[in-house]
Amino acid sequence: MAKVAFLGLGVMGFPMAGHLAKAGHEVTVYNRTAKKSEDWTGKHKGKHGATPAEAAKGAEIVCCCVGNDDDLRSVVYGDKGAFAGMGKGAIFVDHTTASATVARELDAAAKKLGIGFLDGPVSGGQAGAENGQLTIMVGGDAATYAKAEPVIKPYAKAITHMGPAGNGQLTKMVNQICIAGLVQGLSEALNFAQRAGLDTDKVLATISKGAAQSWQMENRWKTMAEGKFTFGFAVDWMRKDLGICLAESKNNKARLPVTALVDQFYANIQNRGGSRWDTSSLIQLLQKD
Ligand SMILES: NC(=O)c1ccc[n+]([C@@H]2O[C@H](COP(=O)([O-])OP(=O)(O)OC[C@H]3O[C@@H](n4cnc5c(N)ncnc54)[C@H](OP(=O)(O)O)[C@@H]3O)[C@@H](O)[C@H]2O)c1
Repeated sequence: MAKVAFLGLGVMGFPMAGHLAKAGHEVTVYNRTAKKSEDWTGKHKGKHGATPAEAAKGAEIVCCCVGNDDDLRSVVYGDKGAFAGMGKGAIFVDHTTASATVARELDAAAKKLGIGFLDGPVSGGQAGAENGQLTIMVGGDAATYAKAEPVIKPYAKAITHMGPAGNGQLTKMVNQICIAGLVQGLSEALNFAQRAGLDTDKVLATISKGAAQSWQMENRWKTMAEGKFTFGFAVDWMRKDLGICLAESKNNKARLPVTALVDQFYANIQNRGGSRWDTSSLIQLLQKD
């Protein structure tokens, strides 16, 4: 069992840190809003630190799941940042969905301090975090990965080493590009079925057994048909992720015409007050005319 720190107790981080404690690791948590740290220690065996540096002190592995590139920098750098508290040989595992650029930057900064760095964004959503069933795509040195992989297993269904630092984030971008087009396709299909007067439950039961099947279809079709969106993966987060994909595509010259279009559709959802709605709310743009 390892001495582990977990920084960022949001929708994802709170249950992920809980799985580490349940697995028997000695866990110290940090959260910017202290109340969540207190809630966590009230529910799980472990301690909390007042700063990222304090939580990370003496930890072999420091896991993190905050919002975006700048949030990540703010918990890592500076006197109170995680790197200041970590000793040589310790490993920082970042689960934030961030850019490949910040992953490479943190990897270089960590190396100068004798710290290991892995970018390990996750897929599987809130339910995946709560059930310990996340898919984790990891970038970083192979030796660092080999040491960290057994420790983060309690919240994973699958963990894959994708190559050097940044490759975890690049893989997550591929994931989000797939989802963007897919959710728009699903929205158009369901809206078409409704306007055609079909029984949408029957349509789902039939086509989900064929080539159109997807996680989004299985898990979102019914709530989309019912117009329920106040749960799940927020549109604000998706726009952040698609922004990262579109910025990266300028570096590697990949064309993302559908992704760029769907990103604009999500901007329309934000303008309608749907920033915190689930990404499946795209269908609303087809229904209100
Ligand atoms: N939710 C999902 O379904 C899902 C799925 C896959 C990946 N992700 C990714 O996972 C990450 C976290 O998502 P989430 O849903 O857990 O978000 P969330 O519930 O909004 O939690 C964000 C966490 O980051 C902390 N934080 C944000 N900015 C910070 C800063 N500048 N300094 C210190 N702490 C800061 C927040 O602290 P406070 O409590 O003080 O605000 C909170 O603990 C995001 O990158 C997201 O894209 C989310």
